This record gives sequence, C-alpha cells and structure tokens, in this order.
Amino acid sequence: MEKIAVRGGIPLHGNVKISGAKNAAAAILPATILAGGKCIIENVPRISDVKYTLRILERLGAKVRVINKSTLEIDTAPLKGFTVTHELTRHMRASYYFLGALLGRFGKAKVAMPGGCNLGVRPIDLHEKAFAALGAKVDTEENAIISASADKLVGTRIYFDVVSVGATANAMLAAVRAEGRTEIENPAKEPHIVDLANFLNSMGANIRGAGTDIIRVDGVKELHGCTWSVVPDQIEAGTYMVAAAVTGGDVTIENVTPKHLEAITAKLRESGATVDEGDDSVRVIGGSRPAKCSVKTMPHPGFPTDMQPQMAVLLSVAQGTSYITESIFDNRFRYVDQLARMGAVVKVDGKMAVIEGVESLMGAPVQADDLRAGAAMLIAGLVANGQTEIDRIEYIERGYEEIVAKFRALGADIRYIKCEESTALTA
Ligand code: UD1
Repeated sequence: MEKIAVRGGIPLHGNVKISGAKNAAAAILPATILAGGKCIIENVPRISDVKYTLRILERLGAKVRVINKSTLEIDTAPLKGFTVTHELTRHMRASYYFLGALLGRFGKAKVAMPGGCNLGVRPIDLHEKAFAALGAKVDTEENAIISASADKLVGTRIYFDVVSVGATANAMLAAVRAEGRTEIENPAKEPHIVDLANFLNSMGANIRGAGTDIIRVDGVKELHGCTWSVVPDQIEAGTYMVAAAVTGGDVTIENVTPKHLEAITAKLRESGATVDEGDDSVRVIGGSRPAKCSVKTMPHPGFPTDMQPQMAVLLSVAQGTSYITESIFDNRFRYVDQLARMGAVVKVDGKMAVIEGVESLMGAPVQADDLRAGAAMLIAGLVANGQTEIDRIEYIERGYEEIVAKFRALGADIRYIKCEESTALTA
C-alpha cells in the first residue's frame, strides 16, 4: 500500500512528454476485435485502465504481444468469447465498449455493467437505444449482465438527446459492419471520437463526419488489421498545464495537439498565465497569483469536465471569487471536502461551486476520491505549504502514466511512500 507525498511551493520548470490518451485507448483497444486480425497500436499509455482492457481481450481469446514500452500487437483472429463478467468490468467505465465491438463482430455480446469513477448516476441507456435502433435485442440479465444480440444489424438514424462520448463511440463500433448507412445525430465531438473513427477507417470502415454534428457510417462487409498511433491525451496535458500555471512555473508540454487544448488554454490565459502554442507543444508560464474566472463544463469543444477538479485547485488560490458550473455529471464535487482540508474555501450548491480564493493552501493528508479528483489533490499538494500525502492513489494510476516521475522531472518534490512511512498516520 503506497501513498504519494508532495512538498509544495516549488515552481515547475522543464519539459514533459504527454502519453497517448486514456479515453482513446479505452475505445481503440476493444475496437481491434472488429479487425479479426492483427493490429499494431502505438502510443498506448501504460496505465491501469489499459492493463484491465488487455486482460479482457486476452480472456476473450485475443493474443497480445508487447512490442515495446508503448506499442502493442493485438491479434483478435483467435478471439471467440463474447461474455465479459463483472470481475473484469468493475474496474472501469470503458468496459462498455466491449458491447459495441463484440456486437459488431459476432452479432452478440454479454457484458456486465461497467464500473469506473463515481461521478453520480451514469446510465448506459443511450448505448442500449443505439444498439436497439440498429436491430439488436437488448436485455439486462441476472447479475447485471447486459446482453445484445442480432441476426443482422441494419443501418439507421440514431439521434442522441444528450451528448454522450461512450454512446457515440459504441454506436460507431456496432454500425461499422451493419448493412447500409447509419447516421448518428448530435454525437460527441471529442478528439478521441475522431481518433476512433480514423482508426476504424484504417481498418477498412467507411465513417465520415466524426468531430462534426453528424457522423455517417456506411457499413462494410469486412475489416482488417492495421497500424495506429493513439492521439495524445488532452486531459493529461491539461493537468500539467494547470500545474505549471498554479505553481508559477514555466513548462513546455510536448506531444500534444494544441487545438484540442483550446478551452483549457483560454481559461488559463484568462486567469493570467501565458500560454504559447507550438506545432505539437504548448508552453505555459504562470504569473504571481492567478486571477479569478468562471468555468462551465461542456461537451467538446467546451471546457472538459475531466479538467474541472484540477481547475478548481487553481481557482482556490486565485484572487477573488470564482464560479464553476458542472453541467455533465451530477456528483463531481466530492473532492471539495478534501480541498477544504488544505484550507480552500469552496461552497457547493447543486451543480455550482463558489470558490473564494485564499492566499495559500496548507499540506494535509487527503485522498483521491476518483481519477481526476486525485490529480487535483496532487496539484494542490504542489502549490501548498508543507507536505501533502495522498491516499487511494490507485485512482490516479488508472489514468496517468508515470505521474510521479514526470512531476519529479519538472523539479517537484514528490515521491511514493509506504503507508507506514506516513507522518499523517503517526501525527
Ligand atoms: C466519458 C469519459 C469520461 C468523461 C466523459 C465526459 C471515457 C471512458 N470516459 O465518460 O472520462 O468524463 O466522457 O466527457 O471515455 N448519459 C446518459 N445515458 C447514457 C450515457 C450517458 O444519460 O447512456 C449521460 C451521463 O450521465 C452524463 C452525460 O450523458 O451526464 C455524458 O456522459 P458520457 O459522455 O456518456 O460519459 P462517459 O462515456 O461515461
């Protein structure tokens, strides 16, 4: 059992290389099932969500070979299984992609309800409606197993009344081999949706319009293996951008697509940081103390909900009162209690948080309540006076590759400690 200990107050300096996107890999790895052959996937982040996804692929019968640190060969030709149990899905939300991928390949899938971060109610009714619209029979069986099956999937019009990343990707996965054309209206436009569509096209699919208001999928009879490099992780990049800004540092964040970061860049500039965009990097220079600003989370290209807790840390030491409106999830402010232990002054009323900026935070024992909440605690530790110890770091490791090493290379005083070393326990 380990924690992360951070001694704050050091401005971050240097360069950090961003890994492949967790949420793109989360869809692309299950999507290899549709190839029924060998795919080489590059720029795969080494995070626990990827480990769990590969475990599911292997249990279903795929052969996974590690070519190097971030490159995998996945052969789904021998894959025969179509059932994924709770024991395998409970770790992560993205296990729902096995429904679309198995349904698309075999016309049948049985997948236990997904796990993942507790951000409030996270139904998958839109996924189920998309499968049903394509002609599948969808049921929830004993032990919360969702089953979807169809003799034949047929292209159709799918309209989402709520923008959903997971349902958009799952609709594409199920539609690529359906008969005829599927039109997905009001889809999610996140960079990982576009990355998944481009990956499927290089496997032989015919998808147009990903990243726009309507996605058209013309079903094809067969797909094949290909080589693909996962898009950089915009949320990992944004996390380092906020950390650079709030510590008053000067950090160049490499291997990013600056366009994907525009919403984060705009808010950091508004709060007083300098952000210089390069071709595949952004340089963030923090000022003395951030200025207040207000943030509303929205589907892409709006401000990402997955950056909301990290931004709240910056605003908690800003000059003045800031407001955050969380419009995607109904329970994404649980981290506020932890932040309050460090001296932040935040009041939550439903979907809004009012943050009275304080001059400084104090180190404290805190815990990661979920993945991005954990990243927020780490940033809070980097800016606080004294030592912060973060417990339940397994949440952070779900989505950040080598986070301690990366922050240490930027000059942070951060390390893993065994729980028995913790001063918080003996204090
Ligand atoms: C994905 C991301 C997650 C991110 C979120 C929003 C992955 C693995 N996870 O989660 O990191 O925070 O997008 O950018 O990519 N909804 C329904 N019914 C459904 C599906 C969703 O009502 O069937 C609602 C949700 O409750 C939520 C909203 O739609 O209020 C958006 O959720 P969605 O985009 O689907 O998020 P996830 O795919 O779960």
